[in-house]
Amino acid sequence: MSFSDEDLSAVSWDGDAVSYIDQRLLPHEVARKRARTVDDIEEAIKTLAVRGAPAIGVFGAYGVALLRATIPNDSEFERAAERVRNARPTAVNLAWAVDRVSASRDMLGEAQAIHREQIAIDKAIADHGLEVIAKNAKILTHCNTGPIATAGGGTALGVIIHAARAGKKPHVFVDETRPLLQGGRLTYFELAHANVDATLQVDAAAAIAMQRKGIDLVIVGADRIARNGDTANKIGTYGLAVLAAHHGIPFYVAAPRSTFDFSMESGDAIHIEERKPEEVTSFGPATVAMSGARVYNPAFDVTPGHLVTAFITEYGVIAPPYLETIPPMQHRPNFSALV
Ligand code: MRU
Repeated sequence: MSFSDEDLSAVSWDGDAVSYIDQRLLPHEVARKRARTVDDIEEAIKTLAVRGAPAIGVFGAYGVALLRATIPNDSEFERAAERVRNARPTAVNLAWAVDRVSASRDMLGEAQAIHREQIAIDKAIADHGLEVIAKNAKILTHCNTGPIATAGGGTALGVIIHAARAGKKPHVFVDETRPLLQGGRLTYFELAHANVDATLQVDAAAAIAMQRKGIDLVIVGADRIARNGDTANKIGTYGLAVLAAHHGIPFYVAAPRSTFDFSMESGDAIHIEERKPEEVTSFGPATVAMSGARVYNPAFDVTPGHLVTAFITEYGVIAPPYLETIPPMQHRPNFSALV
């Protein structure tokens, strides 16, 4: 199967609906669906049909603009917007985008601006990321941070794909990312689509890959980053950061400013979404655990900032000490001025 980049655009405005790729069906089927009601929008986010922090921000932004156009009653609209805002709690981009659109007079125009900015921001992140990737680098990544996760060019995976296009010939070790397999289903697919060399591995292979496969660096995305650099990202990221520190391997986080939560001093207060047990007790359609098994299923974990070598943002590569280098980003000129 081959697809154009256009076919793979994660989210787009469709006149009287928000159109999206149903990521649950990838890589076997590229199906576009249309969300028209608050139920459609909330369900698409909650079930991960649309996922990835920046992509749910763009989707939520269009969603709220659509709801304003279709729900004349103010309090009914506010209740609907709140449902979208709270559909997933950990990625700050969703609440940030819903708030930004809700505060605007031209909601659709604002949602379109958020989407345009995301595309430009991803390009800037990819450009800045070039400085951390050497020729022939072996890179380990986790979860999915490519174009379908941002509705732009991607964050961590955007950096890798850009480095490949710049002739750096990276080789990517892709964690499958249990339980929902965003790495196995989505990242490997996006790398194949972009002609980037990749090897898929189970999450538990990360340690031996670092020990025996010569991993040069780890790059991941983020869902919420506190002022001290503590980073919430897909479950398993914290373990990777500890492993990277043990092996002396640099650990980078690529994320836009909208993923930084400047109101949080540290990651201790980040709300970690816990998802249903069936995601763990099953593997695809097959049930694997005994019925009634007690399950802990956090969707994210928090990597302490001291384990992050640097953040790759649209403003450049941000190095420690984070309490001094992250907060000033809040007051940098809005990136939209550069778009
Ligand atoms: O539960 P998901 O698939 O939405 O989790 C996504 C991640 O953890 C990504 O790494 C993060 O959102 C960054 S996407 C550019």
